[in-house]
Amino acid sequence: MKFFADTAVVDEIAELNELGIIDGVTTNPSLILKSGRDILEVTKEICDLVDGPVSAEVVATEAEEMIKEGRKLAKLADNITVKVPLTWDGLKTCKTLSSEGTMVNVTLCFSANQALIAAKAGATFISPFIGRLDDINIDGLDLIADIRQIYDNYDFDTEILAASIRTVNHVSECAKIGADVMTAPPSVIKKLAQHPLTDAGLEQFMKDWAKTGQNIL
Ligand code: E4P
Repeated sequence: MKFFADTAVVDEIAELNELGIIDGVTTNPSLILKSGRDILEVTKEICDLVDGPVSAEVVATEAEEMIKEGRKLAKLADNITVKVPLTWDGLKTCKTLSSEGTMVNVTLCFSANQALIAAKAGATFISPFIGRLDDINIDGLDLIADIRQIYDNYDFDTEILAASIRTVNHVSECAKIGADVMTAPPSVIKKLAQHPLTDAGLEQFMKDWAKTGQNIL
């Protein structure tokens, strides 16, 4: 499963990228706001830093304007993925841009039928939002499993990009189901390395090592 960092904060991306554990980045208008940066500047900076796909979202709601915004974003770098919302106009934009060879991430997906129609419209990635479904008492992981089954039934090339990931459990469950990609905030990605038994075990090893009076270096 590929890992994307769900943030527009360059320092956070750089830290994960140095470790070689991220395969791309996703941003959205809320994350751009949180970064406090200009969308074009920060997106270009992220694209220069990371080799994989970097999602940048259009903000128009009508296809004609969305397509113009998407074309402008696509010019920033070869690894731009234009992100469009799962609306009728978003699907029209998806079809046009993907036909031009631009990667498209169709976002704000909350149903299997939405994922199906996005794949038909040529989406490179579909972004089902797990956490936001969990928030309204619908199991977001069930949606990932349903989309996996549908895409496998018909050999769709569209990659399932599990989004709105809030917990480390979301990550392991997505990997078990077979999501192609998961995007998570850096704080969640860093928590993947944590386990209380690792901390306790290390503490004991350090205590015992101190008693040996030895040094390795
Ligand atoms: C995905 O591309 C979105 O940017 C993101 O995962 C949304 O997450 P949230 O529901 O925690 O805002």
